[in-house]
Amino acid sequence: MCGIIGILGTKPAAPRILEALRRLEYRGYDSAGIATLDSGEMFRVRAPGKLKNLEAAMESVKTPGNAGIGHTRWATHGAPNENNAHPHTAGRVAIVHNGIIENFRELREEAEAKGCEFKTQTDSETIAHLVEIELDAGKPPFEAVKTTIAKLRGAFGVAIIIKGEEDLMFGARKGSPLIIGVGNEETYLGSDAFAVAPFTDKVIYLKEGEWCALTRHSINVFNDDGEQVAYTIDTVLGVADVVDKGPYRHYMLKEIFEQPESTARTIGAYVNAVDQTAQLPNEQELDFTSFDRVYIIACGTAYYAGCVAKYWFEKYAKLPVETDIASEFRYREPALSKNALAIFVTQSGETADTLAALRYCQENGLTTAAVVNVPTSTIARESDAILPTLAGAEVGVASTKAFTAQLCSLASLAVIAGRARGVLTEKDETHLTEQLMQIPGRITEALKVENAAKELAVDLSKARDVLYLGRGTMFPIAMEGALKLKEISYIHAEGYAAGELKHGPIALIDENTPVVMIAPTDPLLEKTISNMQEVAARHGKVLLITDENGAKVGADTPAWTLIAPSCDPFIAPILYSVPIQLLAYYVAVEKGTDVDQPRNLAKSVTVE
Ligand code: F6R
Repeated sequence: MCGIIGILGTKPAAPRILEALRRLEYRGYDSAGIATLDSGEMFRVRAPGKLKNLEAAMESVKTPGNAGIGHTRWATHGAPNENNAHPHTAGRVAIVHNGIIENFRELREEAEAKGCEFKTQTDSETIAHLVEIELDAGKPPFEAVKTTIAKLRGAFGVAIIIKGEEDLMFGARKGSPLIIGVGNEETYLGSDAFAVAPFTDKVIYLKEGEWCALTRHSINVFNDDGEQVAYTIDTVLGVADVVDKGPYRHYMLKEIFEQPESTARTIGAYVNAVDQTAQLPNEQELDFTSFDRVYIIACGTAYYAGCVAKYWFEKYAKLPVETDIASEFRYREPALSKNALAIFVTQSGETADTLAALRYCQENGLTTAAVVNVPTSTIARESDAILPTLAGAEVGVASTKAFTAQLCSLASLAVIAGRARGVLTEKDETHLTEQLMQIPGRITEALKVENAAKELAVDLSKARDVLYLGRGTMFPIAMEGALKLKEISYIHAEGYAAGELKHGPIALIDENTPVVMIAPTDPLLEKTISNMQEVAARHGKVLLITDENGAKVGADTPAWTLIAPSCDPFIAPILYSVPIQLLAYYVAVEKGTDVDQPRNLAKSVTVE
């Protein structure tokens, strides 16, 4: 999980950057680096591994000057070595970057066509070259950065410095958080308030799409269109906690908004963006040609991630999948195939039933793999293979970013399996990895439904029961939507396959039972829309969650509509998780419940 720090200070920057990087260590990283500016020159030092390696390198490589940027890198594109470590430079420019630049391939080709030579396998280096190209064309730094930022698609947080400009630093935020620290004749950039905590408790939380130009005495913030915007300075209390809420009212909302970053990290672990291939991270090995089926076993939200994965594995790898609720699994004395892979999906890695199911499978000679967020957990340690989700610490009891990270790992795994089993061609793999790369950027767009979800929540919070319906991969998303709503708002909710409506649940429909239909544009859209009409014909009030096209198809029926970004059906379950999370969150806020600590629930369920 990458960390960013930038300092325009009044005393030597490098030791202070190192101090800030130490505070970012909790996020996890596998290389680090610093670039500083002094007397018209730029200096840079980087090292793989822990910060002590960087510190040792700093003894021989001098990094003088009062201005600089630093980074802790969790490898995504490219191996965790010194060459791929940030800051990246091109000519006069040095940058540090978190997230994924979705269109970096075309931007890189454009830069290469103009004679730029790339030194790394990273998407990040592209940003430095783009700024340098604009400077070469005679643009002043401000214009060069503005033009570059406008070209970047995806999810990113970035800090930029330029040789010869020792009182100037740029930052940009799209998807990945970035804050400005306001000091006494000093300014800072940080990936969170914790990074700048040694220097100041006054911070400006950049909003989505904003970027900034800083000097030691001035702060200018701009929106997506390059227009200057107002900002507020917050005083941060309690930044001693590694996981603070930042500008958010609840951890859950913060974690919902962290999803561009958490999905980018997770996808980065599985997808090689340069080759457009998918592979298992950390030299893990699973021979998908040797498995005749897959069991996916988990509890709650993690189980629903497994239910989505069933669709992916069967479609893209032609591998039969059985999904099981962990608490049921071992007691039903399942007839297990010895040639099966058993996958355990778990955020905490400590869930008692999931752990018991893992041990049961091992006793029965199955190969086991854990899709797990806590790499040191019992389930991670006891499984044959660890398939990490890099969601970062999840504090809110209702799982959000861990769920979408699980989906990202499982989607990548289905592509890996499909390729290994000869079901997917190289072209299919390229297409599907391209879609995976788009997730962080599309989630950033999906988060824009926030205000609409907040307004709808006022009506929805009055309901006693809510039904969620979806087809295909949207069926498990409907179940997850219902679970999210019931656990934090205490409103009774159920998720059904939309086609099941007529087989029972339709009896519940009346004007007091809202129905949430989750229907992206895919081959099942029209069928789901007909189910919606069946609901409307019985005076049920429908909330349709769809894209622009779906809204046109279902135009006259829904009482309310939430528009999500259009996307390939492959990644739709990941993007459509966002509106259902925001909806549940705002209904709970409307009802005044304890969102982060809902009654009777625990974050980690270590008893049966
Ligand atoms: C719901 C939720 C739970 C967990 C379940 C499994 O929002 O978080 O349903 O998904 O308790 O927990 P883990 O993933 O830690 O095994």
